[in-house]
Amino acid sequence: MENKNSNSKETQSKEKSKNSSMQSSQLMKLFTDELKDIYWAEKALTKAIPKMAKKATSQELIDALESHLEQTKNQITRLEQVFESIGKKASGKKCDAMEGLIKEAEDIMDSCEKGAMRDAGIISAGQKVEHYEIASYGTLRQFTKTLGLAKAVKLLEETLNEEKAADEKLSEVATTAINIEAAELKA
Ligand SMILES: [Fe+2]
Repeated sequence: MENKNSNSKETQSKEKSKNSSMQSSQLMKLFTDELKDIYWAEKALTKAIPKMAKKATSQELIDALESHLEQTKNQITRLEQVFESIGKKASGKKCDAMEGLIKEAEDIMDSCEKGAMRDAGIISAGQKVEHYEIASYGTLRQFTKTLGLAKAVKLLEETLNEEKAADEKLSEVATTAINIEAAELKA
């Protein structure tokens, strides 16, 4: 009887470890898929941000966009380092959400006349992009924590902090530069 009990405990613990290794390989797959998604998204942004900067009027907004473009290029390199740290070659998978957000940004820019209103539209579109990225990097960082991938945690956290700062910068530009511009328009 005792033996039977200990056997079944052993079987249970084997089952448990089999389940947890299955879960971690599924999590690894989910992580890799989302990594490919954000890699595609960042690359698409290196083409979209210069278009937004070109259509902006406020120098503060142009500067914010140009500095985020440089950050974005670094973020791509960082993602390549994350791929490398898990022994995979960097590759992208089309991100439908980012494609949609960029399309919306283009529509806003086309429908607003150059100046304060178009700038406000660019900021609004830019902040939606930042929030998507904050959500993605937050999830990716959590996945790497669960998977025990210390190097990737650090890399993803650096980018997550940059995205949060970029979002705050856009809020700041919206409340200072754009409001002043809009007030000048009224005067
Ligand atoms: Fe980014």
